[in-house]
Amino acid sequence: MTINTEMKVRVAKITQVADKVKRFRFERADGQPMPIFSGGAHVIVSMRDGQVLRRNPYSLMSSPADSSCYEISVLRVENSRGGSAFLHETLKEGDSLTLSQPVNLFPYDQRGRKHVMMAGGIGVTPFIAMMDQMDREGRAFELHYAVRTRTHGAYWKDLQARYGAHRVKVYCDAEKLFIPVDAIVENQPLGTHLYVCGPAGMINGVLGKARAQGWPKQNLHSEEFLAPPPGGAFQVNLARSGRTIDVAPHQSILEAVEAAGVDAPYLCRGGACGQCETAVISCEGTLEHNDHFLEPGDKASGKKIMICVSRIKGNAVTLDL
Ligand SMILES: Cc1cc2nc3c(=O)[nH]c(=O)nc-3n(C[C@H](O)[C@H](O)[C@H](O)COP(=O)(O)OP(=O)(O)OC[C@H]3O[C@@H](n4cnc5c(N)ncnc54)[C@H](O)[C@@H]3O)c2cc1C
Ligand code: FES
Repeated sequence: MTINTEMKVRVAKITQVADKVKRFRFERADGQPMPIFSGGAHVIVSMRDGQVLRRNPYSLMSSPADSSCYEISVLRVENSRGGSAFLHETLKEGDSLTLSQPVNLFPYDQRGRKHVMMAGGIGVTPFIAMMDQMDREGRAFELHYAVRTRTHGAYWKDLQARYGAHRVKVYCDAEKLFIPVDAIVENQPLGTHLYVCGPAGMINGVLGKARAQGWPKQNLHSEEFLAPPPGGAFQVNLARSGRTIDVAPHQSILEAVEAAGVDAPYLCRGGACGQCETAVISCEGTLEHNDHFLEPGDKASGKKIMICVSRIKGNAVTLDL
């Protein structure tokens, strides 16, 4: 169950923009304008793939000023459990899909005097919409964008052409060029905000260096495109209805609960927002926490689980659902 309403869209255009990256343009099936969003927002894309309903979050990368469409860009993940493979290999122009209303868990801070963004690979997508908005609002910003090879990196040429190479700097692993994080975090004016989106290692490394340089917590922002590891099969007992549901190795608890026709709240489906937090009544096994929402103390208590990304190693867990 989403806490907002869903909308039907038509796939208006699919464009291959880089190795393994496709851009999708969605327009509303009823011809109405798209709801307003702000840079950094994402939508949940619901995909009917045979018997399976897949729901993945994707950042909006189109201009927040353009209400004619939403655009997302998707990396085809190797060993995909299904979502990115479906979007790349099955979805065609003219097909229908369902999107959630946009939700922004990664907005830029309007009070910032300057905004420094660091992106790894496909993590550039939320920044594309943010820069469009910041540019129109006349804000000071710069993007540091790390790509594996120049053909893997999407949009860097367009972004440099639009905002200038002095504001969009590209670092290519294959050329042994890396983001000079130390120099960047050491040399920013007071009131600068720092935003990181990419793999967990990059986020932790950048934020760790900024904290060591004394950056205030409230000036540091990150979003991880979390894709947690699968595990073994187990059972979930739903205390409120007395039902027992099987969770398959490649399924999240949330997906298993939804497939059984039970509503559970969610917003990000990526372990970040806290919406799917569920009380654990008992567990025959060990909780495997994959979210970045719960505090370490909450994780250690064994009393809470974020069912969109976390699972158990063991036989069964009883949840207050
Ligand atoms: C806020 C946000 C924004 C994102 N924006 C983008 C974007 O702009 N572009 C982009 O390419 N990607 C983005 N992602 C990542 C994207 O949502 C998918 O994770 C990615 O496309 C890979 O999906 P997949 O289904 O192919 O593969 P996989 O990563 O193999 O599978 C993901 C699926 O696994 C399920 N799952 C979750 N936890 C577990 C678990 N512990 N055990 C078993 N199954 C589990 C999930 O329900 C999900 O459906 C974003 C993620 C988040 C959280
Ligand atoms: S839905 Fe956001 S943390 Fe689970």
